[in-house]
Amino acid sequence: MDSGLGGLTVARAIRSRLPAENIVYFGDTARLPYGSKTAATVTGFVREIVGYLLPLNPKHVVVACNTATALALSAVRADFPGVSISGVIEPGALAATALTEHLPDPVFGVLATEGTVASGAYEKILMRGRPGATVVQQPAPLLVPIIEEGRDGSDPIVKLALRQYLMPLLARRPDVIVLGCTHYPILRDEIERIAGPDVAIVDAAGPCAEDIAGKLGASGQLRQGGEGWIRYFVTDKVPRFARMASAFLGTDIGRPVWVAPEELHATHPSEAIDRDMSRVG
Ligand code: DGL
Repeated sequence: MDSGLGGLTVARAIRSRLPAENIVYFGDTARLPYGSKTAATVTGFVREIVGYLLPLNPKHVVVACNTATALALSAVRADFPGVSISGVIEPGALAATALTEHLPDPVFGVLATEGTVASGAYEKILMRGRPGATVVQQPAPLLVPIIEEGRDGSDPIVKLALRQYLMPLLARRPDVIVLGCTHYPILRDEIERIAGPDVAIVDAAGPCAEDIAGKLGASGQLRQGGEGWIRYFVTDKVPRFARMASAFLGTDIGRPVWVAPEELHATHPSEAIDRDMSRVG
């Protein structure tokens, strides 16, 4: 789950690492951005979504959103003790520290939402792995809305916003910049261009998929053989999500199922699929 398109960066990595697994993707497009909301609000959203997905018997739930991971993961794990739930921050931060093993006192830049920056979640794990490190954090509140609007790295507003947010980080000469929001890898090419060749850019998608593969493998739950499917649920603007997700993934995702936020308590996912099919047909 994610607030919108960002978790697709993680879903894509999971598809590629675990092609036999079936994925249900939930984009809470009616209520994004999460990054400027309080922990209580975001926790309430995540709790509703995990509760909504439970009747599908997921063998694992990925909170594919840094903000939700930072603000809600521990509370939601406590709410659903029988469900295997993981987030994106730990795998991303560990991948970043691994990249700096050869450096005595690395400098990490963290580009993230306001909520993730304020939580200090990245800083904590990065400093635990590399106690001598410097961590410079930069909130980038405009990026999620800009990305959800469908603007890409060639758009002048995107370039301006990225420069605005990256320049203070780059002034501190980071060895690594962590993309601490799952939306940002959608602009990765432009971020790399601005940061230049001396800065490693890390995003959590690949490490997160690896982490899930490890967890499923350890519990003997990996699906063997066959090709998995992916099904999409969103809380708003179905056609736009479908258009942008298809463009990002390079394949037609079909028609996502629309679930209004107020239906999250009252509807079973299979009823939402049935209702959606009858609406189409
Ligand atoms: N993809 C979410 C994240 O990783 C975006 C949060 C938002 O909606 O602001 O933080």
